Amino acid sequence: MYASFKSIGAYVPSKSLTNKDLEKIVDTSDEWIKQRTGIENRYIAASDEFTSDMGYRAAELAIARSGVERDEIDAIICATITPDYFCMPSTACVIADKLGIKNATAFDISAACSGFVYALNIAKAFIESGLKQNILIIGAEKLSAIVDYTDRTTCILFGDGAGAAVIGTTEEKEASVIDIHTSSDGAFQDFLITPGGGVKHPCSQDVIDQHLNYLKMKGNETFKLAVNTLTKDVTRILAKNNLTSEDIDYFIPHQANFRIIDAVGRKLKFSPEKIVLTVAKYGNTSAASIPMAINDWYESGKLKRGDLMLLDTFGGGLTWGSALVCFNQKD
Ligand code: ACO
Repeated sequence: MYASFKSIGAYVPSKSLTNKDLEKIVDTSDEWIKQRTGIENRYIAASDEFTSDMGYRAAELAIARSGVERDEIDAIICATITPDYFCMPSTACVIADKLGIKNATAFDISAACSGFVYALNIAKAFIESGLKQNILIIGAEKLSAIVDYTDRTTCILFGDGAGAAVIGTTEEKEASVIDIHTSSDGAFQDFLITPGGGVKHPCSQDVIDQHLNYLKMKGNETFKLAVNTLTKDVTRILAKNNLTSEDIDYFIPHQANFRIIDAVGRKLKFSPEKIVLTVAKYGNTSAASIPMAINDWYESGKLKRGDLMLLDTFGGGLTWGSALVCFNQKD
């Protein structure tokens, strides 16, 4: 049995935050943000709406589209860097409860923007080892809770949202999650970091006063590393599977910055109509970015059953990964 990408679902909060709105908060401009990032808008969760609520809404849709019954789901993996709770319970357990799913293995993983591809990798391993049959994977983030809205270098980039997929089984290799590669290099741990709030710098007045509980990023250094690492990673997975960019129906990269996507797309010679872009609408939603992009392409009628997707991601840790996946959702 091979792992099969059986369905997609996503959820976007209702409140939008435009570049013009941000001009009123920090010293920035719509023109600068569009030019440097391609972002025009992002969505922000309500004050009483949490990561589990968004993950639950995306999961409901993915389950309904999968043809799998809730009681057939035997594992739930939630990728997030903004869990409802510090340490426990996991957001996956909270989502399982909202869905009414009992007795499934449920846990969170932390791989920042690479979280969804990491979760897909774990799901593939669980299924192809015969341990599990139907796995719900979720990427959900309330990044607005860890963004410092006094720091113009980061607050313009991030948004909230969630995406989910059901990974089941197939006997056909070409209809499966064909290959995945995930990787990391902890030497770059300070490129993207929330320094405070963990056991190293526990929550204290000092941590709050110094804004150490917020996300910090070395943007320029991260940018350069992202372009080089992603290009190498995609080249490697294509070569390993005897494919070229022409064999791919949709290249679906992590939506961090249009310039990163454009640079990688050009180096790999993807034609523009094959490159999935949602960064203008949603900004960077970390682990939710790739499943939200897949869902957009599906709902707009472009992504069809049997299409070959190339997922590609890069994020805090540093972590990165790519995956060759057949979209196998029945209409
Ligand atoms: N508005 C106006 N000016 C700004 C803003 C802003 N919002 N932010 C920074 N600037 C200024 C800087 O102060 C600097 O001014 P100076 O030249 O006078 O010093 C100038 O603009 C250029 O700043 P850079 O940091 O060099 O801008 P850059 O072109 O690199 O763009 C950005 C910054 C958008 C952050 C880019 O570096 C980037 O996208 N980096 C990668 C992000 C990424 O991929 N992260 C990984 C995933 S995220 C995750 O895992 C959670």
